Amino acid sequence: MLCAFLFLGILLRRTDCFSVTVPSSPVSVVRGAMALLSCEFEPDHNISNLVITWQLQESPQVVHSFYYGKDQLDRQSSHYFNRTSLNYKELAKGNASLSIANMGLKDAGNYLCIVTNGKGTDRGVVQLVYAAFYSEPRLSILLKSTNVTVQYEMEGYPRPEVMWLGSAGQNLTDHLEVSSASDGGLYYLKSSYVTQSPAINVTFTLKNPAVHQDLQRHVNLSYDGNMSSSTSVVVLSIMCIFLLFSTGLLLWLYCRDKRR
Ligand SMILES: *[C@@H]1O[C@H](CO)[C@@H](O)[C@H](O)[C@H]1NC(C)=O
Ligand SMILES: *[C@@H]1O[C@H](CO)[C@@H](O)[C@H](O)[C@H]1NC(C)=O
Ligand SMILES: *[C@@H]1O[C@H](CO)[C@@H](O)[C@H](O)[C@H]1NC(C)=O
Ligand SMILES: *[C@@H]1O[C@H](CO)[C@@H](O)[C@H](O)[C@H]1NC(C)=O
Ligand SMILES: *[C@@H]1O[C@H](CO)[C@@H](O)[C@H](O)[C@H]1NC(C)=O
Ligand SMILES: *[C@@H]1O[C@H](CO)[C@@H](O)[C@H](O)[C@H]1NC(C)=O
Ligand SMILES: *[C@@H]1O[C@H](CO)[C@@H](O)[C@H](O)[C@H]1NC(C)=O
Repeated sequence: MLCAFLFLGILLRRTDCFSVTVPSSPVSVVRGAMALLSCEFEPDHNISNLVITWQLQESPQVVHSFYYGKDQLDRQSSHYFNRTSLNYKELAKGNASLSIANMGLKDAGNYLCIVTNGKGTDRGVVQLVYAAFYSEPRLSILLKSTNVTVQYEMEGYPRPEVMWLGSAGQNLTDHLEVSSASDGGLYYLKSSYVTQSPAINVTFTLKNPAVHQDLQRHVNLSYDGNMSSSTSVVVLSIMCIFLLFSTGLLLWLYCRDKRR
């Protein structure tokens, strides 16, 4: 539509259809990594006419700006201080992609790329999504009277899909606790499964689609009632022999001292 108008405009003025190209799908970046926000435009032979402004869509905060042939960071938001950079060699090729180092939860949002040069002006929006891989789940097994609790703890982002499966692959009821993301930008997750059965054969699954993470951990706990009782018998016998022997030794030492 805009282009059609501009095409008409060509008859009156020599204006080309200038447009900015940004990724159409959200850009997912993991915690601590470098985010690359792509933004391309049709270059102009003269770079001194180029004005690039990266800012947040929701607020007027300046993320990065470039004009008069160099970075202009006086009005940059302190949140982005020393973390952003443009590739100067790429600017002449029509590439205004911005790198943001050390991605954190607060960096998630919609970023506007506004480009102006001798050929025109346009803007595009890049959606930046924050994610973090879930850490290796830490297993604990708690015994309380007749209950056995199998529990996994881990940290990551965002909220994952968690399931406990039985030996036949059936969905088991579980208990999930998620504490809100701290300044560190990670959720703390505690998932548990309670059973009265002493033999456990379950699978814990976690899916974090934002980073295509798919975890599966098997817990296989079995005990043999006969073995545990025979073990006790052996332990008891050893203890009796030891007791008899030490008593004998003490008596002998005592008698020897008495005789002196
Ligand atoms: C580039 O543009 C600036 C300002 O518009 C002008 O002063 C300069 O002469 C131009 N340079 C070239 C090589 O066209
Ligand atoms: C900016 O970052 C560089 C490394 O990326 C570091 O060496 C420098 O000390 C930082 N400057 C400030 C003022 O934090
Ligand atoms: C644009 O610049 C970035 C950063 O230097 C680079 O990674 C990317 O490949 C460039 N894009 C194109 C299309 O060349
Ligand atoms: C054992 O688990 C059941 C649910 O499975 C629960 O109602 C009960 O309170 C638990 N008992 C103890 C002692 O934790
Ligand atoms: C334990 O569960 C797995 C599937 O998770 C199954 O293949 C296996 O046969 C089960 N073992 C027993 C002893 O039930
Ligand atoms: C498993 O059960 C939970 C509730 O206990 C439910 O929310 C979930 O959708 C079920 N998943 C599947 C694959 O059946
Ligand atoms: C779990 O343990 C039982 C008994 O030791 C064994 O037969 C079974 O194959 C194990 N299952 C898995 C999934 O390891």
